Amino acid sequence: MFFGLFKNKEKEQLKLPYQVDIHSHIIPGVDDGSQDIETSVFLAKKMTDWGITKAIATPHRTDVTFENSPETINKPYEELCKALLDNNINLDLHYSFEYRMDEGFINLKNNGLIRPLHGKFILIENSFVQPLWNLDQFIADIKQKGYFPIWAHPERYTYYFQNKSIYKQIHDMGCQFQVNVLSIAGCYGREVQDIALDFLKKGYLTYLGTDLHHGQHVKAMDEFLRSNTYKKLKPQLEDYILNDQLL
Ligand SMILES: [Fe+2]
Repeated sequence: MFFGLFKNKEKEQLKLPYQVDIHSHIIPGVDDGSQDIETSVFLAKKMTDWGITKAIATPHRTDVTFENSPETINKPYEELCKALLDNNINLDLHYSFEYRMDEGFINLKNNGLIRPLHGKFILIENSFVQPLWNLDQFIADIKQKGYFPIWAHPERYTYYFQNKSIYKQIHDMGCQFQVNVLSIAGCYGREVQDIALDFLKKGYLTYLGTDLHHGQHVKAMDEFLRSNTYKKLKPQLEDYILNDQLL
């Protein structure tokens, strides 16, 4: 009996501080995330173990590399939904996109072809290679069209480490920040972790995301959720993040 109680307590600690995940690459064969349905089912099952009840998957939408649209996503999405049912995995799965701010995105936006996460909320990202010279203009245009931009993992764009004032500037424009759980865990290095924690301190951290791509991420998530660092941070994260408002 005591062993059972201990197990339940451990399971509770392994839960994320939210139930709605807004950033993952679990739809099979469409980007650099899961490449097959078996992996997708495994990733989805792990999400439910962490307490996620609803996931809005966000395949990349970038010019040239991943020119995804509902035409490329609908079929693998339906296949994954069926596989979840067949495997008794209780995850309410939806999809949007992780929109790279590029020419293609501008066209989609101007033609009313954006597929939001929820309501008018959209997940946007930068290239990891080079900064966007007109980031503020992108954000202003997105807002002007009536969307609410959520900036995917701003803590991970290393070229901004020398220009940290950009975070305040973009936040003050009304852009919300989605930080990766694995950034807080330190999986992308110390500086990324420090910036993620600084966002938490400053009240910039509005959403958390798994940004789940593959099994290595699962291993790192499991380790972090078992850690004392997570145990200490969890109440603060629960207070700040708004993920579950996107139910
Ligand atoms: Fe992503």
